Amino acid sequence: MTISKSILLLLLGVVATLFSIVLATPGTATFYTSYVPSACYGSTPQGAIIAAASDPLWAGGKICGKTFNVTCTGPTNPVPHPCTGRSIVVKIVDHCPSCGGTLDLSKEAFSTIANPVAGVIKIDYAQTSRYLKHASL
Ligand SMILES: *[C@@H]1O[C@H](CO)[C@@H](O)[C@H](O)[C@H]1NC(C)=O
Repeated sequence: MTISKSILLLLLGVVATLFSIVLATPGTATFYTSYVPSACYGSTPQGAIIAAASDPLWAGGKICGKTFNVTCTGPTNPVPHPCTGRSIVVKIVDHCPSCGGTLDLSKEAFSTIANPVAGVIKIDYAQTSRYLKHASL
């Protein structure tokens, strides 16, 4: 019995998709509390589950509107065990050239994944795929 080439290619595609979902980049996150105006959307509010991108991610604003799944992975300071164990998908709405972390999360988003008393945490973040965006809406 032979498996046809198209089925093999389909399986490879599924595996590649799974990898792109799983691959996450390590970084750090801080939080902020004043959401409007934003660099991406001006005075139009975008809700509270949002984030600002640091310079290395900003890319002249190309990152605006993209969504990232952010997971707390550990402390950066003496506040022990800051992570809640939850993840959150945030939308990039702003630019944060001097916040000192990779992502500056809204306080609501930060509080979902970590104790805000920690202020700064280690994170893993991964851009959510179109497939996941549709699946979660
Ligand atoms: C976000 O990442 C976490 C940890 O990898 C994972 O368990 C969760 O399913 C992801 N959520 C989404 C919506 O991708």
